[in-house]
Amino acid sequence: ERPYHLLAIETSCDETSVAVLRNGRDILSNIISSQIETHRRFGGVVPEIASRKHVESITVILEEAVRTAGIGLDQVDAVAVTQGPGLVGALLVGVVAAKSLSMALDVPLIGTHHIAGHIYANRLIGEIVYPALALVVSGGHTEIVLLESEGVFRILGRTRDDAVGEAYDKVARALNFPYPGGPYVDKLAHEADDEIELPRAWLEPDSYDFSFSGLKSAVLAEINRARMKGESPSFASLAKGFQESVIDVVTGKAMRAAREFGVRQMLLCGGVAANRGLRERLTRLCEESGVPLLIPPLSLCTDNAAMIGAAADLKWRRGEFTSLELKAEPVFSL
Ligand code: KG4
Ligand code: ZN
Repeated sequence: ERPYHLLAIETSCDETSVAVLRNGRDILSNIISSQIETHRRFGGVVPEIASRKHVESITVILEEAVRTAGIGLDQVDAVAVTQGPGLVGALLVGVVAAKSLSMALDVPLIGTHHIAGHIYANRLIGEIVYPALALVVSGGHTEIVLLESEGVFRILGRTRDDAVGEAYDKVARALNFPYPGGPYVDKLAHEADDEIELPRAWLEPDSYDFSFSGLKSAVLAEINRARMKGESPSFASLAKGFQESVIDVVTGKAMRAAREFGVRQMLLCGGVAANRGLRERLTRLCEESGVPLLIPPLSLCTDNAAMIGAAADLKWRRGEFTSLELKAEPVFSL
């Protein structure tokens, strides 16, 4: 059979990324241009600046992705793009580029959900076995998703306030780390000798939802309490207390869902999947429960276009294409 090539575009937040996949699984290129340095001095992503940066980068990244893949544009069989959720101005840049390419090359367009992308990044490293449970943890999302069968998602729970990565970034800021601070908190937690006990937000006993804003406030309160007494709190012990609370709750709920729904596989995904403590704990718990676990390599955990291609490939195989009426969907359900 003749190989086919999907070109995928992701611009939902602060990464401009274009990838080329061969046969939906082989990554020929996955170019990622991060805007983090630009947004850092503002302490977070500034939507207006993100859109402008995407506009500046998109054609350059497109050309680089095609060149790196070693194919000609005439070998592109379909164009996939993140339709949502995300920042509307940022999404629009990718959507307009994808539509233009689809029209110019006369190939199908495949609109893709960003979270489906994070989940199906796991297709690039292994075979998905259904029913599977996805633990999606990123800067913008925290969700437990049951994959009943291919492309059939059921959201069991989600955060009611901050996303895990967002909570990490806010705590990191309180501990004087630059944005995005998740990795610094992770590293500091591993250097701690002891831990400051912080609360765990389990919510209702049967709930798969999360809440992290109380935990973040507890960290700030600990810092203030120490300062009032003229002491300086141990940032390492605080980081560890915070990380342990997050990991207990996130993995505790994921394992309970895995049992309740008798899943045959666990998938960890999203930028916070880079967290060493989380990876280690989930690996151990899954081993103990006999649930096979997939975790993509770090480059496929954070926002990238290859994951969008991996999710779009399932639609390609079913011949499910999107019309050129496709719109950017800042709020988009899975
Ligand atoms: O998936 P992602 O690249 O962007 C979104 O789609 O949101 O995730 C980025 C988030 C940031 O909040 C960052 O601080 C967090 O992932 N992160 C981490 C670690 N590495 C990245 N959080 C905790 N520990 C880490 N090692
Ligand atoms: Zn993401």
